[in-house]
Amino acid sequence: MRSRARSELAGMLKQVQLVARPATRRRYASSSTSVPISPRRTSYRYIALGTTVTVIGGVLYNSNLFRVVKLDSSSATQNKKSKTKEEKDGEEKEKAKAKEGEEEKDPKAKDISFKLQTNSVPGPNASQAAGRFISMDEVSTHNLAHDAWVVVDGKVYDVTHFHKHHPGGASIIVSNAGRDVTELFRPIHPPGTLETHLAPENFKGNIDPKQAAEANEAYAAEQSRIDQARNSLPAVETLLSLEELQQAAESFMSPRVKDYYGAAANDGYTMQDNRNSFRKCRLLPRVMRDVSSISPQTTLFGIRSALPIYVSPASNALLGHPEGELNITRGAARTGIIQGVSAASSFSLGDILDERDEMDKELEKDGTKMGMVYQVYVQTDREKTEAQVREAVSRGVQALILTVDTNVLGYRQSTEKIKGTTGDASPGVRMGPITDYPAYHDARQSWGDLPWLKKIANGVPIYLKGVCHIDDVRLAKEHQLAGCILSNHGGRQLDQARTGFDSLRSIHAEDPQLVNDVEIYVDGGVRRGTDVLQAVALGAKGVGLGRPFLWSQAAYGEKGVIRAIRILESEIVMGMRLLGVTKLDQVTPDMVECLQEVWR
Ligand code: HEM
Ligand code: HEM
Ligand SMILES: Cc1cc2nc3c(=O)[nH]c(=O)nc-3n(C[C@H](O)[C@H](O)[C@H](O)COP(=O)(O)O)c2cc1C
Repeated sequence: MRSRARSELAGMLKQVQLVARPATRRRYASSSTSVPISPRRTSYRYIALGTTVTVIGGVLYNSNLFRVVKLDSSSATQNKKSKTKEEKDGEEKEKAKAKEGEEEKDPKAKDISFKLQTNSVPGPNASQAAGRFISMDEVSTHNLAHDAWVVVDGKVYDVTHFHKHHPGGASIIVSNAGRDVTELFRPIHPPGTLETHLAPENFKGNIDPKQAAEANEAYAAEQSRIDQARNSLPAVETLLSLEELQQAAESFMSPRVKDYYGAAANDGYTMQDNRNSFRKCRLLPRVMRDVSSISPQTTLFGIRSALPIYVSPASNALLGHPEGELNITRGAARTGIIQGVSAASSFSLGDILDERDEMDKELEKDGTKMGMVYQVYVQTDREKTEAQVREAVSRGVQALILTVDTNVLGYRQSTEKIKGTTGDASPGVRMGPITDYPAYHDARQSWGDLPWLKKIANGVPIYLKGVCHIDDVRLAKEHQLAGCILSNHGGRQLDQARTGFDSLRSIHAEDPQLVNDVEIYVDGGVRRGTDVLQAVALGAKGVGLGRPFLWSQAAYGEKGVIRAIRILESEIVMGMRLLGVTKLDQVTPDMVECLQEVWR
């Protein structure tokens, strides 16, 4: 704490009246075996009225993880040796948590943690490479699969051996070998990733400071462009539809993020159909009924909900806004709707649950609690799925959603283009650009896995997401699952798949009783209150929305989420009035008439 740099930092921290809390780690569940040990102990996040700075291994980053101040290495070491009171308190709490958690009971988990801990030597301090400057020209010669270097934040890493084990796929690293990948890397990796996953000898040295400064300037310029653009958006109250919220977000997002949120599989036919399928039905209002008092309340996933809508789990909210999923937690809690949390969230489940607990304190005075459901995939490494489910269940998540339409990632061509993915023109086994996709989601998953999942769910109801075929709804019923979400993942998986709403129409027409026996939800392309009412009329308990919440939080943070929900609320209430109903159970199949297409 004695060095000049440290006191500079202390000065800055005081200025923003900071409250310390443990650093946010992306997507690492606190009871998971993949918890990175070192960043936990060296990183702190400071929050004051929207100002977030992070100290990681002696470097101060702003909310966009842009480096603000680098502390000299002695103060960084000092920083590690003499911990602040908060750090000590934080550690005590972490230790206590770990003791309570499953991790301690599982000897294997302990081994893994230990291995990570002993491997985790921060790259910047690796002594053999410190002090050596490397030019970008030199880096650019290491651009092959068997000789791959990348630059992150002015530091050069040899990823020749690592890329084969990269959870995000080898090709993304190989296709970027020899380049500065900071901008690609930062938004999707939690602090400490490099230190935890790369061995000290993989750190090759620092980029020539002049070139590094130029790269940082470019990054800072982009961040400041985004901040300014966000600040000059029209007042959120003036936006009148979800489409306007989407336009606001897309007006300033980087092309990459805009693409990730908007991307669809192949030609995007299914994504377009999702929106259009609501146009194939018409509503039949009843007249001369007293509609002075309307209640759009209902129960979804066994939880009270202010509206028949919920936040469909979608990953990587942080790409759009520095507070990411936490914006959604706050917005959903404060309007009484349920948040579906993605297994691929930017923030860890623990962080999101902490935010939910904060919200619950706020809601206590009304005697209510926030509704939260957690979405999982069956991962090839079942222990990882188990750890996620156990954490969710132990912390009171009210339902689990098992997404079953993503046993392999859909082919989003626009995304591949932006990433610079190249294909393979050689004869043989390879079929396309994404065949090296690591087996993260288990392609062998089957109905036979349900007893295992039910056991760890410990009574928490399970819903299948990504169902299309009536026989799969029947199978879900046979397996005594709580329900099905008719969905095609926002058109991002199998292009030309039927839409969720069309599946509802078809299943309702063929076997209306089935829709009563199993709770049915729909998602995909829902953008208006009247879309919601059409689905409810045909027996859906509720509908999910994915992109609208990503866009609205990207543009306006929590306020955007609240605005999106308020827009939908007013559209639903007005729709109910005009339909001549006062409660959702009065919205019945006779109130909707659908175009009869013949598909077979
Ligand atoms: C330089 C060394 C790198 C290391 C040590 C590294 C490490 C990791 C790790 C540990 C994960 C899993 C994170 C998680 O579970 O949330 C991951 C995922 C990923 N990484 Fe990297 N990475 C590196 C470089 C890159 C680069 C250059 C890119 C280019 C964009 C990239 C793209 C991704 C993607 C797309 C994922 C998957 C994200 C998801 O599943 O949602 N990585 N990486
Ligand atoms: C070869 C490169 C890549 C591979 C193999 C890859 C792999 C994956 C996988 C496995 C998922 C599903 C993750 C999960 O559900 O946990 C995913 C989702 C996602 N990845 Fe990538 N990724 C790649 C590149 C990227 C890059 C460069 C970015 C952003 C900079 C990115 C952003 C995303 C986003 C936003 C999602 C969520 C989309 C969804 O679930 O529909 N990906 N990716
Ligand atoms: C960027 C993005 C990420 C998504 N990530 C997930 C995910 O992690 N898990 C999941 O079950 N569904 C995911 N989905 C699908 C949504 O839950 C939902 O099915 C879909 O977005 C609904 O369509 P809509 O965006 O038209 O509302 C994602 C969708 C988008 C657009």
